[in-house]
Formats: sequence, C-alpha cells, structure tokens
Amino acid sequence: MVDPKDIDFYSLGFRYLETKTMFVSDYKNGKWDDGNSIPFGNFEISPAACVLNYGQGIFEGMKALRAKTGEIVLFRPEENGKRFNMSARRMVMPEYDVDKFLEAIKKVVKANEEYIPPYDSGGALYIRPLMIGNGPIVGVAPAEEFKFIVFTVPVGPYFPEGFNGIHLEISKKYTRAAPGGTGSAKTCCNYAGTMLPAKETKAKGFAQILYLDAINMEYIEEVGTANFFGLINGKIATPRKTGTILEGITRDAILELCSKKLGIEVEERDISYKELFEESCTETFCTGTAAVITPISSVFLEGKKRVFNNGEPGELTTKLYELLNSIQRLEIEDEFGWIVKIS
Ligand code: PLP
Ligand code: COI
Repeated sequence: MVDPKDIDFYSLGFRYLETKTMFVSDYKNGKWDDGNSIPFGNFEISPAACVLNYGQGIFEGMKALRAKTGEIVLFRPEENGKRFNMSARRMVMPEYDVDKFLEAIKKVVKANEEYIPPYDSGGALYIRPLMIGNGPIVGVAPAEEFKFIVFTVPVGPYFPEGFNGIHLEISKKYTRAAPGGTGSAKTCCNYAGTMLPAKETKAKGFAQILYLDAINMEYIEEVGTANFFGLINGKIATPRKTGTILEGITRDAILELCSKKLGIEVEERDISYKELFEESCTETFCTGTAAVITPISSVFLEGKKRVFNNGEPGELTTKLYELLNSIQRLEIEDEFGWIVKIS
C-alpha cells in the first residue's frame, strides 16, 4: 500500500498504485456470498483455475471523481453494472446483482477516499471491478466457482499526450474482434490480443492502433481501449454497434450530448477508413472512461498520413471535452441524471 501522503496527485499517469481496501465476494454452490471489504492483498488460486487456463474473466472500468462541490461522484455506474452482466452472460459466468455491484463500488471508494485525487488535479480514482472463473477445470468448460473483486488506483490521463492529441496507426495487419466473437464483452482475452499490435505500433511512434473490421478491413471499429468518433460533413459519426466493439458508456453520453444539447446530427454507421483521408472529415477523437475524450491528431495507413486541424484539438472536440468534464465534476447542472453521489 502506498501512503496517500507520498502521492503527487498532480502528476499521475495511468500506472498501478496499491490502495488500501478491496472488495471480494465468492460464488460457490450456485450463489454469491455477501462479500467483504478487506485489506488489498494477494489471494491463492488453483493452477487449474479456469481463468488461468482458458481466460474466463471479465472486468469494468469506472472512475470516482472529486467534484467542484467537494463531493465524491460516479458517472453512470449502473451502466457499468449492466454491462458487467452482459459480459458475464457471454462468458458463461454468474451475474452479479446491479444494486449489490453499486453497493460494493461505493464501499470500496469510500474506504479508499484518501486516494481520490483533488478536484483541481484532473485525476480520478479508477475503479476496477472484475470477475474470474477461479474454480479448477481441465476440459474447456465454465468454472463452477467465481470471484468478484473491486480494487482502485488513483490515475491521471490514460494517454500521456492527454488532451494534446494522439497519433494513431490504422492497421491492415491486426484486428481486434470478429463477428460472432467476444468483441462487445469486456473480457480479458480481448485485451491480451491487442498487446502485440500496441507494442509494434508504439515502437513506430504511434500511441495506439485504430482497428478496422475483420471482414472487409475497411470500416473503423475502435481504438482498443476507446471508441472512435469523427466529425464528417458536419455530422458526428461513430461506428454502429455490430457486436464487435465495446459499447462504451462515454460513447453513449457523447451521442446524447451532441443530439440533445448541442443540436448536432449524430450517425451510428459504417465508417470507411477512406473517409478519414477526405477533407469532409474535419475532427476525430476517441472516448472512454480511462481516455475520457482524447483528440486524434493524425491517422496513418500504408505511408499516407492525415493530420486533423493542424494537429490541434478541434473546436467540437474541445467543446465536448469541457462539457463532459463539467458535468462529471458538477461544475454545471447534471441535466441528464448521470451523476451518482457517494455520501
Ligand atoms: N472500447 C474498449 C475496448 C474499452 O476497453 C473501453 C473502455 O472501457 C471503451 C471502448 C470505452 O468504454 P467506456 O466509455 O464505457 O469506458
Ligand atoms: C476503461 O476505459 O475503463 C478501460 O477499461 C480501458 C482500459 C484501461 C482497459
């Protein structure tokens, strides 16, 4: 455990730091126990655990923020609870009651309150709920015992570039998910497969891969840890939900903010990567809990580079970033009812 007094909350990256308390609940004989908040620490696991052998694991990503009012707030946490269960169903894991999920989150955040970065630091307490099939198994089949865990880490920006914008490589070599697969579930395996592409592209100076669809290698999918948006012909476009992208909660908020608050037409559709190289595409950005809204400065494919807005964050991207942040930090009224306070 790191002493919170030793943390410089003003220069946090997205790096692992141990906090004080975690929540653990076990599923045995067909039911979940009540769960407990316990000191953060290691636990034993069978070498035959299903998660270790066959990757039966799911997770969520959430943030607790210190609002302008001094209160501790969560952003649409119920949506994470619902998505967690959607992932659980896809991976043949037991669902976790959404109210209990929220209770566990609140308990862990409260217990780790000293680790929540101050309001003016821009940081957050990242919350990681996860579930693993920890029961032993040797044939490929679901475990019979599961563990639900919630731990936290104080974080700053996910991409070190922050709001300055990232450079992305469009890949025609790697894909992230294919139709019928697990792309829309938040399962560990989806992320393991992106580590090699990320390593290779980072060695070339890019922040990440912008993935294309696995069938045509043409339509934008997502960034691998964030959803994609483009301002194309004055409309805000994002890839439609086809089962191969993670259905981001931030993505949904951006669509609502654009259509209901800013009066911008939104499109959920197939977006060819070719459109990003045309003048009609004027801004691009990606969204996620960790990434918040990160401007995309340029995209690169097969020797061709497209720089957006001279590499500066676009006007709409900036407006959305400020709007989302000010809602999340209670600087303005939460008119969509997205904020849950922790008392
Ligand atoms: N896409 C992937 C693959 C992700 O891991 C995430 C992060 O959770 C997102 C998109 C964005 O989702 P959200 O906005 O719900 O955090
Ligand atoms: C998130 O945005 O919360 C994520 O889960 C993305 C990444 C850190 C895996």
